[in-house]
Amino acid sequence: MSEAGARVAEVVRRDFSFLERGVAWLDNAATTQRPEPVLAAMDEFSRFHNANVRRGVHRMAAEATAAYEGARAEVARWIGAAAPGEVVFTPGATGAVHLAVEGLVRPGLKAGDEVWATLAEHHSNYLPWVRAAREAGAVLRVVPLRADGRADLEAFRAMAAPGRARWLAATWVSNVTGAENNPAELAEAAHSVGARVLLDATQGVAHGRLDAAASGCDLAVFSGHKMYGPTGVGVLWGRRECLEAMEPVVLGGEMVERVGGDGEEPVWAEVPWRFEAGTPNVAGVVGLGAAVRWLRGLPEGAEAWVRRLAAAARGGVKGVDGVRLRSAEDAGAIVSFTVEGVHPHDVAQALDERNVAVRAGWLCAEPLLRKVVGGPVVRASFAPYNTMDEVEALVEGVRAAREVFGP
Ligand SMILES: Cc1ncc(COP(=O)(O)O)c(C=O)c1O
Repeated sequence: MSEAGARVAEVVRRDFSFLERGVAWLDNAATTQRPEPVLAAMDEFSRFHNANVRRGVHRMAAEATAAYEGARAEVARWIGAAAPGEVVFTPGATGAVHLAVEGLVRPGLKAGDEVWATLAEHHSNYLPWVRAAREAGAVLRVVPLRADGRADLEAFRAMAAPGRARWLAATWVSNVTGAENNPAELAEAAHSVGARVLLDATQGVAHGRLDAAASGCDLAVFSGHKMYGPTGVGVLWGRRECLEAMEPVVLGGEMVERVGGDGEEPVWAEVPWRFEAGTPNVAGVVGLGAAVRWLRGLPEGAEAWVRRLAAAARGGVKGVDGVRLRSAEDAGAIVSFTVEGVHPHDVAQALDERNVAVRAGWLCAEPLLRKVVGGPVVRASFAPYNTMDEVEALVEGVRAAREVFGP
């Protein structure tokens, strides 16, 4: 381990209790572990400040509201939103895509329209579009990938019908290959054919600043639990004009300004509150705000360390007989691979026996895995608390799996 890398891992590891279990957590693309400051912020909120937000007049309600809106401001700053009001809290990335598709996309779609999704989309950013297109009589078309795993935007520009192409659903970073699209290039390509773009930023936000407003994207989604925050909370970011045009999907308390008693048309609350009906996951939002502060305070070189770990893992597993890399060569934090003659679940099981946690299977990204790989994979994914010893354990475990289960 290099000096600088060792320092990053050493400092970061102090914040994580799960390490007491001795597990090498290489499943960070599925969910990251939660650092002490995030747990402490949620605990403190739940113990001393718990109240519904934006309603009570007592002081605990005011504290809860301040904590909730403070987290919105933290998130907005972290992702480069133009204002906190562009951040809508949702139950996660999946919920955020649903809100966008049901509230904005679907009401505007008509027969003959085109909706585009890249081949690399996670099911969360694919299935809602498939259904919306089908029900509107629109067509869902797929943006192919280049050899390096990025969306082939030249092909998209050539194939999309100007005036009929309405939306492009595109991931920032693939959860299978780690290939990284450039959000500004996605936005530019979509806009050049008159479409809007929804960026799935879920695999990107823990590894770099989004710069949402500057990117030119129209909407973006992500989940708190993949950026060291809690589960059950995520974000839909949208340009003000998109959010203003979006219909609320879940109706109920605190999302409405005026409700008459005779069934007349209600007056919705302002954006973004009109999209947060009911009592939200306040402790989760507070935890997400704390996760942003924690990310901001990471030691210098943390992301470079993550990339070095992934590169070392790539080099290591590549050297094992029968292993074929399925992630991009320069993929940031993700290393996906197959082992000839060994089912990915057997590889993952063999690794689990060595206390190394990885993901195996279709990774909720069947379109890409079916068309490009032809089957499931094993995925190791890295965070700054990982170490070179853990990379070594991964490589040794894969070698052992090949020896035990292989041809
Ligand atoms: C690229 C990508 N998008 C969306 C999601 C869905 O996130 P969630 O399950 O937190 O809603 C995931 C989760 O794995 C993902 O990797």
